[in-house]
Amino acid sequence: RIVVLDFGSQYAQLIARRVRDQNVYCQILRHDITAERIAELAPKGIILSGGPASVYQDGAPRCDPALFKLGIPVLGICYGMQLTCDALGGKVAKTTTREYGPANCTVQMQNELFADLPSEMDVWMSHGDQISSVAESFETLASTPTCPHAAIRHRELPVFGIQFHPEVTHTPLGGKLLENFVVGVCGCEATWHLSDFAEAVIEHVRETVGDRRVICGLSGGVDSSVVAALLYKAIGSQLSCILVDNGLLRKNEQQLVIKEFSEHFKTDLHVVHAEDRFMASLAGISEPQEKRRRIGHDFIECFKAEALNIKDAHFLAQGTLYPDVIESGADPDGPAATIKLHHNVGGLPEELGFELIEPLRDLFKDEVRRLGLELGLPENLVWRHPFPGPGLAVRCLGEVTREKLAVLREADAIVVEEIEKAGLYRQTSQSFAVLLPVQSVGVMGDARTYDNAVAIRSVDTSDFMTADWSRLPYDLLGRMSSRIINEVNGVNRVCYDISSKPPATIEWE
Ligand code: XMP
Repeated sequence: RIVVLDFGSQYAQLIARRVRDQNVYCQILRHDITAERIAELAPKGIILSGGPASVYQDGAPRCDPALFKLGIPVLGICYGMQLTCDALGGKVAKTTTREYGPANCTVQMQNELFADLPSEMDVWMSHGDQISSVAESFETLASTPTCPHAAIRHRELPVFGIQFHPEVTHTPLGGKLLENFVVGVCGCEATWHLSDFAEAVIEHVRETVGDRRVICGLSGGVDSSVVAALLYKAIGSQLSCILVDNGLLRKNEQQLVIKEFSEHFKTDLHVVHAEDRFMASLAGISEPQEKRRRIGHDFIECFKAEALNIKDAHFLAQGTLYPDVIESGADPDGPAATIKLHHNVGGLPEELGFELIEPLRDLFKDEVRRLGLELGLPENLVWRHPFPGPGLAVRCLGEVTREKLAVLREADAIVVEEIEKAGLYRQTSQSFAVLLPVQSVGVMGDARTYDNAVAIRSVDTSDFMTADWSRLPYDLLGRMSSRIINEVNGVNRVCYDISSKPPATIEWE
């Protein structure tokens, strides 16, 4: 395996993903992990990520300098390179201008890091500091017009540094460079495959579970479906699934989940029909966080009541993913917890009394999707847009009522249907309708109307932490608008949300 030490880079996870693209297992570790612990983990290579700090600042995150002497190849990227130089004798200085954007990198000396790469290549820079001079012990491998030491190598130790970012797509040949490090320099073999991973997890689940029963919440989302499919493969009829219908699901969603279920994991399914309960507790509530709180609370109560009904249930399976593990600080060797803005983590509290099984905790989202396909789940399920736990409640602004939900459900179904018909479902990350608490004047036929407005929201994002609004074709927006106004009673106006995140969020509440 390869380990990435995280110095607070927004790209640390991307580096790990790129390494895994080489079929080499990669794990993200805290930056201050000791060299002894790294030696115990025995990785074949260490990558030091970028980061927002300056090495000459007080309190800048550092790594254990002994790691450079372990004999394990090290690649420092951006801040990681500056740290390497700082630790092994080199000068880091502030550049006059922050360099952010494309640059042309010229290879000055043939070397294993740039093997089979052209002598000039486009790279992506994003830094305020750079190396102003390198120690005698280093040699310069490449430069750009503004960065004399764009890539360096230690003369004796297997230690490299690059100022640019090979992990981003704006460095088109960055994948090859990382492959050169991972395979060429570190000697990793491309042996980490998702199918082997699935087999190992299935085996592990069988061993852990024995003849006991596992319950798994189904939401219709990708993660819970893949968990269920994996568990079904591992333990078959010892799996029980629970679907809580909170009355806040999209059009036909309950039927869809039941259909998927009956096709792919035909085991014990419990559907909890809890619409009345959720509607009662949402009555009169319009504050978004209070809506979320009540929905979360009711969900746990409903789930708990059903789970405790399932005889001999011992384990609870959850679709926790690797980014959740990293960001929540749950891995003792992993980076410390960052502020977790997402609400997707957590799920059910520990006091339910079940032992947890988290078979996806080593995987990134796109790996989960690939695994889903390997397990025989259909493309349309595996590529489904995420849907928030509180469901349509956070898209039905203000107080939630059955009538409003009915309007929203129809409008939302039209948005998704039209996006699918236009072949843009996979290209967009999340597309849906929002029912606004506004009424406006319109005219239909000869009559004046005073009806609701619907907003269409469609965003493109890779991590849901930042997002841009999708540049949907006007014709498509036009079709959505006229269908919604014509087909959905109670709507006479449609708007398109052109805000990015930040400063807006993806959901409206
Ligand atoms: P925002 O609106 O914060 O959403 O930009 C980012 C992602 O998180 C989803 N989301 C939620 N998921 N419970 C969830 O399970 C929630 O309360 C919640 N709020 C937002 C949202 O759909 C998007 O994918």
